[in-house]
Amino acid sequence: MLDEKILEVLKTNPDSYVSGEELCKQAGVSRAAIWKRIEKLREEGYEIEASPHVGYRLLRIPDTLIPGEVRWDLKAKTFGREVISYKKVDSTNDVAYGLAEKGVREGAVILAEEQSKGKGRHGRQWSSPSKGGVYMSCVLRPRMAPNEISKVTLLAAVAVASAIRRMSGLDVVIKWPNDIMSDGRKVCGILTEMKAEQDSVDFVIVGIGVNVNTPVSALPKGATSIIEELSRAGRAESHLSRVELVKNILEAFEKYYRILREEGFEPIVDAWKGLTAMLGSRIKVMLPGRTFEGQAHTVDPDGSLVVRLDSGVLEKVSSGDIVMVR
Ligand code: BTN
Repeated sequence: MLDEKILEVLKTNPDSYVSGEELCKQAGVSRAAIWKRIEKLREEGYEIEASPHVGYRLLRIPDTLIPGEVRWDLKAKTFGREVISYKKVDSTNDVAYGLAEKGVREGAVILAEEQSKGKGRHGRQWSSPSKGGVYMSCVLRPRMAPNEISKVTLLAAVAVASAIRRMSGLDVVIKWPNDIMSDGRKVCGILTEMKAEQDSVDFVIVGIGVNVNTPVSALPKGATSIIEELSRAGRAESHLSRVELVKNILEAFEKYYRILREEGFEPIVDAWKGLTAMLGSRIKVMLPGRTFEGQAHTVDPDGSLVVRLDSGVLEKVSSGDIVMVR
């Protein structure tokens, strides 16, 4: 709290020094307390210049996923109203699930710099090395039936793909249901989990893993990161702000969630269709115990993928893995 107050004062005076006296007054603590916190902030990567008899000036903010940075100037009201961050956890989805069971409010966000047991779809692992990735889970409490959950899954993909496009300028696309791909390589995966009663959802956890600045050498074969894709595209950036990306994701999430509530699922499906490159393409669908090929025809109003088989028959797929066939 005190750190956040100190940073708030320094950030609102970006081009000038703030005197020690002013900081004490605004934060309501002694000079010694301010000095101690400034030292602590420096250890966390904040570059703070201290000029004798003049005051303090903030020179650099680290790109660390901490609540104070994520919440700073965040335009979203519900998403991110509570942010909890960790250096390392087993899985942010598991932490979020536990907190949701204890009643944490909709919009709470769990972030980690590293995961030791990152979970992917279909029981797979999600490689979650430190320094460079975004591992985040959002708690939602939508008023919907359990069989409508794929609406949230598609909505999350739309929100994250739009945020990545906006932040990086890369033309990422969605592969059904919610992988985010750059030129055929995966930069982001989303895992939706829920707790539900017979006919109503108790809560939904949307877990988002984005390889942002992660070197490809730290990632599984076939995966890529945003920074690697920017370099392939001949762009010179060596770093993309993870804090800004998280903020963009939360803002986009809030926007599309509101659209879902107020206008229904149709505009979300339309946005999804506008962000995918797979409709009309030949795909292979892999279901437990069965694999078949066909053409990705459309996405149904319930979020299922409709595949046109070679016989002309349309088959609905509500969960499974898709591979593009060249
Ligand atoms: C996939 O298989 O594509 C989904 C990957 C989802 C990974 C994210 S990282 C944050 C959250 N916590 C987890 O354990 N998994 C999700």
